[in-house]
Amino acid sequence: MVEYKGNFKITINELRINIPILLRFAPRRGGGKSGLDGYSFIIRGVAQLASAFAWGAKGCSFKSSHPDKIMDDKTKISIIGASSYVGARLYFDLKSKFIVVGTYSSNQLSKNFIYLDITNKKEVEKVINDIRPNVIIHVANNASAKWCDTYPEKAVLLNQTATQYIADSANKVNAKLIYISTMGAVKPSNLYGKTKSKSEKIIKTSKYGYLILRPSLILGYSPNTTNDRPFNRLLKNLDEGVSAVYDTSWKFQPTYIRHMSEVITACINNKIFNRSIVIAVTEMKSRYDTARDILTPFGIKVTPVDAKDSTFEVFKDDLSELNYPRL
Ligand SMILES: NC(=O)c1ccc[n+]([C@@H]2O[C@H](COP(=O)([O-])OP(=O)(O)OC[C@H]3O[C@@H](n4cnc5c(N)ncnc54)[C@H](OP(=O)(O)O)[C@@H]3O)[C@@H](O)[C@H]2O)c1
Repeated sequence: MVEYKGNFKITINELRINIPILLRFAPRRGGGKSGLDGYSFIIRGVAQLASAFAWGAKGCSFKSSHPDKIMDDKTKISIIGASSYVGARLYFDLKSKFIVVGTYSSNQLSKNFIYLDITNKKEVEKVINDIRPNVIIHVANNASAKWCDTYPEKAVLLNQTATQYIADSANKVNAKLIYISTMGAVKPSNLYGKTKSKSEKIIKTSKYGYLILRPSLILGYSPNTTNDRPFNRLLKNLDEGVSAVYDTSWKFQPTYIRHMSEVITACINNKIFNRSIVIAVTEMKSRYDTARDILTPFGIKVTPVDAKDSTFEVFKDDLSELNYPRL
């Protein structure tokens, strides 16, 4: 049983080498000592951090006193896309446990990050060969379905072809590959999902081990508060302090961003590879539910709207296939 202590810290020991639990990486309703279920845990954690944000913690910049060290006595991880909403949180969570080298493309969130355009095959080979990581975490995709539909060629190059460049380069330096995919890759209904699904297939050809992590919509505080990602939009609502309108039609099982770092840490430490792992709580929520639960305590009015999101049916089927509860 996954449990949360009173201070809401997950106890990794209780997750050790337990794949069934990792696959359903969230406490069951009422299962934790704190009495919180997975979703409540997210909301409590987010409310605390959002509170800090509201008091001026946003827009932090990172001034490390030393550049990222590259040592050989510890697992060396390269996070490709370390400035992203997800990548930035992974970078700062994993930094205390491993040697971590981050790359960026247009936004150098930390001065220690190394420039890398993943659509340039030669550059990918060079940077990965220079870093020589044991593990590569590939986070650098464009997660906007709208952007993918508007720029299909760019979307295929960035979200799919570049995955091949990274996988080939990983094989050359004997590195394992961790790919941040999405639940939307299971039965893809749009170009974004299709590129992610094809990338999963590429990742599985990795010679030295792979891990595919499938989050749903991700909630939680990241050092990158500015990218136009679902959680950062909530922070923006908080910052602007005006009422917001959110959709009730698409239901999903939220992913807590910190769980992603914890699953990665547990998998690396316990040598769990060659698997696809869903990271989500068991409860189904809509964008309206999450916005209401996060923003209302700050006095922000959230109004429901039925956007008749067409991804709803697909998601329901995907979840049942994954042995998740139906609505
Ligand atoms: N956020 C979610 O709710 C969610 C849900 C499910 C799955 N995911 C997955 O999580 C991953 C990260 O998503 P996110 O929400 O964190 O996205 P994001 O904040 O929009 O970040 C996109 C990343 O892609 C990088 N990038 C873009 N073009 C590049 C290029 N040519 N070369 C190298 N890097 C490039 C960006 O680097 P620069 O900023 O330096 O340009 C940035 O790090 C994606 O794979 C996405 O599919 C996210």
